Amino acid sequence: MSKTESSSAPAVVDSPTPTKAYSDILSHLRDENRLREIPADPDANFSTVDLLSNDYLGLGSESHLYIEEFRRRFPDAEFTSSASRLLSRRNHYHSRLEAYLEELYGRPALLFNSGYHANVGMIQALAIPSTLFLADKLVHASAIDGLRLSGADYRRFPHNDIKKLKRLLRDNHAAYERIIVVVESVYSMDGDLTPIERIVALKKDFPNMMIYLDEAHGFGVRGERGLGLAEEKKVVDDIDIIMGTLGKAAASAGAFAVASPAIKDYLVNTARSFIFSTAISPAQAAWSILMIEKLTAMSDRRRRLARIGHDLRQQLFRKANIETPSESHIVPVIIGDAGEALNMARYLRANGFDSLAIRKPTVAVGSERLRLSLNALLTDSDISRLVEVIGNYH
Ligand SMILES: Cc1ncc(COP(=O)(O)O)c(C=O)c1O
Repeated sequence: MSKTESSSAPAVVDSPTPTKAYSDILSHLRDENRLREIPADPDANFSTVDLLSNDYLGLGSESHLYIEEFRRRFPDAEFTSSASRLLSRRNHYHSRLEAYLEELYGRPALLFNSGYHANVGMIQALAIPSTLFLADKLVHASAIDGLRLSGADYRRFPHNDIKKLKRLLRDNHAAYERIIVVVESVYSMDGDLTPIERIVALKKDFPNMMIYLDEAHGFGVRGERGLGLAEEKKVVDDIDIIMGTLGKAAASAGAFAVASPAIKDYLVNTARSFIFSTAISPAQAAWSILMIEKLTAMSDRRRRLARIGHDLRQQLFRKANIETPSESHIVPVIIGDAGEALNMARYLRANGFDSLAIRKPTVAVGSERLRLSLNALLTDSDISRLVEVIGNYH
């Protein structure tokens, strides 16, 4: 035993409590107007228009209409799967949901517990040696977490910059067996679209390229049957992996991937978030079947959503001189300051609209914004009143 070591208990030094550093971080976030808080339950006496949620078709707010049908058609759907898919004996509705998705997309589907699980698990699984990922600068945190956790080689290319993407492919294609390009169909914070046809066209020059498309904000919303931007642009068969979430337009929870039979089998064997997590309940899977049936038939609502998105963007520009990068139902109003974004969200709330102030780390400093998330049940007068309220700010 050295001189400095002792067998007795260490002397108590005057150190901060082990949790003090966490409180300091919280204070710092508060000082920077970046503290996040779980919203309070809605006030029954004060109704607001919901521009927060991702219930794009309004299916979620109308779910009471479908409860009877759900009970009648799926009376035995249990509320727990009690184990991961690989161990559970309660897989019947999961398999039915996967079969239904396969029928819609024409390729096998695999369920995940959420879009977050899907992105993290699949990207990690695909990251075997000699794989390079090229991810758009604005892909969702779950894709970034997948890239970081996997330890894979990856580069980010400037948002929607296909020239830069092409240069990265040219510079790297000979050094890797596969290059996986990760993009989102509708970007969750800017509301613009990935130029998916141009990305697909790159495959001709780079045969070792694969495409991973996150349709979190496209599923239910884009395409004739709501299968997403890939359906709208007729490129479903050209995308190696399509990821869709079920908790947004589909008014349920969970997520799915559509891929080749070999990739599906590979993911079943290697995607850790699939293997090591209890599956969504059979009831959730059955509810997803019902919601997707409804959603595929809602082309009128998809058209309406596209129209009000267009109207809002035009009116913001004409009446309030606000330009947005959006090409969809997600319309950001870029403010450029966290405190001001919070103030504006409070002001909108006081005037009857619930919207979200988006700050770092979700968006870069200087691009803080309000995210206006539209749904097909909004009326034309909701949209014009919203523009009027925004125009009167200050
Ligand atoms: C683009 C994108 N991908 C993935 C996810 C994660 O999906 P989930 O909410 O089902 O975990 C989100 C969620 O907001 C998202 O916006």
